[in-house]
Amino acid sequence: MAIDQGTGTRTAELQAERERWVSASVATQPIFVDHAHGARITDVEGREFIDFVGGIGSLNCGHTPAAVVAAVQEQAARYMHQMYSVVQYEGYIETVKRMVACHPGAGPFKGLLLNSGAEAVENAVKIARYATNRDAIICFDQGFHGRTLMGMSLTSKPMPYKKGMGPYAAEIYRSPAPYPYRGVSAEEALEGFRKVLKSQIDPSQVAAVILEPVQGEGGFLPMPSEFIHGVHALCQEHGIIYISDEVQAGMGRTGTPSAIEHHGISPDLATWAKSMGGGMPISGVTGRADLLDAVHPGGLGGTFCGNPVACAAAIVALDQVLDPDFQAHATAFGDDLRARLDAIASRHENVGEVRGLGAMLAMELVQDRATKAPAAEETARIVALARDRGLILMGSGLYGNAIRVLVPLVATPDDLDEGFAILEESLADAFAGR
Ligand SMILES: Cc1ncc(COP(=O)(O)O)c(C=O)c1O
Repeated sequence: MAIDQGTGTRTAELQAERERWVSASVATQPIFVDHAHGARITDVEGREFIDFVGGIGSLNCGHTPAAVVAAVQEQAARYMHQMYSVVQYEGYIETVKRMVACHPGAGPFKGLLLNSGAEAVENAVKIARYATNRDAIICFDQGFHGRTLMGMSLTSKPMPYKKGMGPYAAEIYRSPAPYPYRGVSAEEALEGFRKVLKSQIDPSQVAAVILEPVQGEGGFLPMPSEFIHGVHALCQEHGIIYISDEVQAGMGRTGTPSAIEHHGISPDLATWAKSMGGGMPISGVTGRADLLDAVHPGGLGGTFCGNPVACAAAIVALDQVLDPDFQAHATAFGDDLRARLDAIASRHENVGEVRGLGAMLAMELVQDRATKAPAAEETARIVALARDRGLILMGSGLYGNAIRVLVPLVATPDDLDEGFAILEESLADAFAGR
């Protein structure tokens, strides 16, 4: 099923409109959705696609889950917006209660609601700075934390996220992160972190570190337990706030509500977004109650933060994430995805590594396994070929050569059989004759 871009199609018309009106800075694929359910999207031409990207991890509960849709419709008919600082509503409290239940550890914990992952990161940094009265933030190689000024400053990949958009936020220091496949071990990265505290900034000036338990945009790199523990221990020793960025890895993607709980660590603060809203835009920060209460009233918030309709959706989505049966399903689902990816890797030399945690998995593609030269062009080609065949994919990684799988956790065995068959066929074709 090749995508027909020919003149006269609705897709071609919409693409022309898009080019006329929508900023070129927003990267897009030439598909326009008509409707979507579960793990499938139907476009304006009536073609069906299996969705292996899930809004980049925002749709763990699937497209248009019936209970979320019903909650949104019911809430929208009652009231759509108040601004929580003007008139309060119960849905905000119920959402925070559930989001706080996702924060691993004994507590007491509290939280606040925001609009996006980047905004959650901004606020976690503000809380950490305020509470510690320190300025510096340490982030890591391959890290991604959003596109706002602070978010992009904390992000490690200049293209496309930072180039030409400086100056970046001040007092940010970057430390190595483990990438065993490309020669950076947990031990070396931890040594690098210790060195940052010696050679770049004194620990007494560091407010926080921010780390994704599984680096997403960086290429689905699960942080080894010894690295997370080592960084966390140094933070505790020096009174540095540990922020776990759970925006992509959290909300059941790895089986558990947070990804860091696989390592038995209770972070001081955590950032949440994406699948928390069941498809609606909402995010938040959770953490130690003393930190969440440190900032003076009015110091945090925003017009649409914790919008009532988004809260209604989030309550349903969070109940699902917190349900032990859903977590067991997500874990088994992740095992199934890994087995399917390992099987593809066993048949294709160009798969250098399959990695991830739970159902947050990717394969890194290389020219050959000996040199590990990144196969970025072929990765882009796989994405295009798969799209023509009815599968939506997206690359990631520092070298643009990882294919990530963030298929909704509600995908059926048929969705997966069909999707992985297209993925494998496209992979074979992209490397054929090279
Ligand atoms: C780990 C992480 N943090 C922050 C963000 C930014 O989230 P948003 O795009 O909702 O601002 C993302 C987005 O992909 C992310 O993966």
